[in-house]
Parts: sequence; structure tokens; C-alpha cells
Amino acid sequence: MWDEVMGAVGECLSKGDLIARQQLEDFEANLAKFIGVKHVMGMNSGTDALLISLKAAGIKQGDEVITVSHTFVATIMSIVFNGATPKLIDVGQDMEMDVSKLERAVSKRTKAIIPVHLNGRMVDMRVVHEVADKHGLIIVEDAAQALGAKVGKYHSGGSGLTGCFSFYPAKILGCAGDGGALSTNDDEIATKVRLLRDHGFKRDTNELLMYGFNSRLDNLQAAILDIKLKRLPQWIERRRQIADMYEQGLEGVGDLVLMPSTKGEGDYFDVYQNYVIRTEKRDALQAHMREHGVETLISWSKATHTHPALGLTGVSLPKTEGLARTVLSLPMFPELEDSEIDYVIETIKSFYS
Ligand SMILES: Cc1ncc(COP(=O)(O)O)c(C=O)c1O
Repeated sequence: MWDEVMGAVGECLSKGDLIARQQLEDFEANLAKFIGVKHVMGMNSGTDALLISLKAAGIKQGDEVITVSHTFVATIMSIVFNGATPKLIDVGQDMEMDVSKLERAVSKRTKAIIPVHLNGRMVDMRVVHEVADKHGLIIVEDAAQALGAKVGKYHSGGSGLTGCFSFYPAKILGCAGDGGALSTNDDEIATKVRLLRDHGFKRDTNELLMYGFNSRLDNLQAAILDIKLKRLPQWIERRRQIADMYEQGLEGVGDLVLMPSTKGEGDYFDVYQNYVIRTEKRDALQAHMREHGVETLISWSKATHTHPALGLTGVSLPKTEGLARTVLSLPMFPELEDSEIDYVIETIKSFYS
């Protein structure tokens, strides 16, 4: 694959295909097909995809948007920077938005819901759509961590007004720096987003139709992503195999709580962007892993709503706050060898024995 990538990079550089060229259009068309939507627009990041989604949807000061605190801060920032108020709800046992709490969070000011499909698993969109339809709310899917995931008939980023994806290098489809995309089936939103990501500039007529941003996906990144996208189904399969190995190796070990199984209970198809375990002995386990040469990650050690600088205080979300104390992400990427996964499992077992 790397020869193909280097070839594509060389071609972009030698031809000067750097901004808004054919490679970007090709990638957008291929990604739209993969997600099952009409339009995809490459953006400079998942953050801007969220920000511009809410702007294109007309979210403004005085509006409320329901989402979770157990997410990357960009989700909440996109609401605040559009002048609206985030209404944060707690997560369920699977670490995703607890949809049983959704309807109670709706007020007269609520205009939108941002379900965040975290760790490669989708929020139960069957319930999200039901509540949104009943109350006339917009859905913007934060699918930054879940390209390729499904629940029932819903594809990640495929059924909301928009879906927002990130190609940050550690993501399931990563580029060589920052990148993102916005998906939609709505023609009007697609037209608006194309303008908003490009200074409000209509390139074919040279008109400025609105104030906009500079938020395009670089052509070079698009060329790289298009090559990697072809391999994505096999990489997702490998991630699911790794999740199976963790599940078989770690079931019943110590006080560990594992991720939902690949068996797809409730019609889920998870893509395991991360494999997150939970334990009350998290910090000691992480130190033990480090001593044995295994790098693990904590996302996030302090719940987003408890950072005073963000002004989100006064919210009590016991499950989210509990996760901040207990979550630990194990190595998870398709290149992992079986022997390396076995080593991770054995190292965890040695901690508890
Ligand atoms: C859930 C979630 N939302 C939004 C983002 C923002 O994406 P980006 O880093 O591409 O701006 C991320 C990326 O880390 C994320 O994990």
C-alpha cells in the first residue's frame, strides 16, 4: 500500500494538484458510497464538520443541543461556538449516550441532538430518530470514531441531517495529519456546506454568497485517504478479530468490565476504533502495563463537564464521572500481531494473579 500512497503523493506534488482537485472529488464520491449517502464534503477536521453542520442547520443563540459529556471536547465546542447551550446527558453501560434519558432532556428550546458514536459503536439511532421525529429536532451525528459502524438499518453518519467524520491519524481511517468529512442526504445542506468550507466562495461563478471558513480537506490528504478507504473493510474485520481475542482472553479476569461483544447483541455492528476496558484499579494496571512495555491510553481522565474553564459545571453525570476514573484503552490497530495481543492479555492477567 505504501508504494501506492507514495505514488499518489508524488503525482499530486508534481502536478500541483493540491486544493480541490480530482482526487478530492474521487474520495468524496467513494466515501459517500461507503457510508450510503448522497453527498460527502471533505473538511479540514472532524471539529469543523461539527461546527459547520450546526451552522448550516441554523443553530443559534438561545437554542439548546442535547449531547453527552463523555466525548472529545470538540462535540461540545461546536455547540458553544454557534452560540447555543449544550444539554449534557449521561451514558449507559456501553459508554454511549443513554437514550432512555433523551426525551426527558428535551425542552422548548431544544433544536438538535448530537449522538456521539464513541469507540466504534453507534448510539441506538432507532430511539434517537423516534425522539427527534416526535419533537421536530435535527440530528447531527458525531461519527468521528465510528466510520463503518451500524445499528439495525442505520449506518454511522448516514441517517442524521449530517454525519461528521475525523481522519486524525489515530482514527479508523487516518490521514497524514488533520482531516475530516461531512456527510448528508440533504441537497440544500450540501450546497451550504460546500460554500461554508470555502469562504462562502462559489468557484464556478466567482461570487461570494456568504461569510465562510477555510475548512477544505487538502487534496493530498484526499488522495491518501482514497487509497486507504479501499482497505477499510479488511481493517475493520481485523479490529473485530482483535476485539474477539480480548474478549476471550479477558472474560472473568479480576474486576474487568469489557466492551460489548462482536456477537452484535441488539443488532450492532461495532468497528472497535478503541478497545476500552474498565477497572477500579485502572491507574495501577496502567503502571503495570507500562513496566511491561505495553502502551495504554486514558480517554478521558477528567469528565469534560468537570473542567471549570468550560463553564459546564452544575451538571451531575454519575456514569460519565465513573468512567473518567476507570477507563483504559488497550492497543487496538489492524497491524497488531496475534502474539502481541496474547502478550497484552497475559500482562493483564499477571497483574491480577
Ligand atoms: C468523538 C469525537 N468528536 C470529534 C472529534 C474531532 O475530530 P478532529 O480531531 O478531526 O477535529 C474527535 C477526534 O478526536 C472525536 O473523537
